[in-house]
Amino acid sequence: MTEQIELFVNDEEHFITVDTSEMLVDVLRDRLGLKGAKIGCDRGVCGACTVLVNGDPTASCSTFAWRVDGARIVTIEGLAGEEGALDPVQQAFFEAGALQCGYCTPGMILLAKSLLARNPHPDRAEITDWMGANICRCTGYKMIIDAVEIAAATGEGQ
Ligand code: FES
Ligand code: FES
Repeated sequence: MTEQIELFVNDEEHFITVDTSEMLVDVLRDRLGLKGAKIGCDRGVCGACTVLVNGDPTASCSTFAWRVDGARIVTIEGLAGEEGALDPVQQAFFEAGALQCGYCTPGMILLAKSLLARNPHPDRAEITDWMGANICRCTGYKMIIDAVEIAAATGEGQ
């Protein structure tokens, strides 16, 4: 069974006919060519596929595309500014050395964006708690938490 849906992805409007079994991550990656959302566990646990759906961090591997008809979606590709200028949270991850292989990084950055949008000045415990929703197999979490602290300190992370 198919459905036609409308998605606003990184401020661009798309009308897409999807199979009702099709996941959002596959629409983003295979239909729209947005490969930033990664597939790790493919069962809603690791957060590598995190995107923002109407501002909420969402596991796109576990979200049927038709369920988000009409939604505003932000992927990692939507963050960089003109001529590839890094978003402040991306910059903070770079400064803190908060990545190694980078596989988890798009999801981590979008998770951090969602925290800072809700709470622009979280303390370290709040950051640790929020960022614990996603898994990184490389860096440990110290540098990731450092990065979110840097972004919060600049006040530009939102
Ligand atoms: S790939 Fe979606 S949560 Fe792991
Ligand atoms: S940087 Fe490799 S999984 Fe996080």
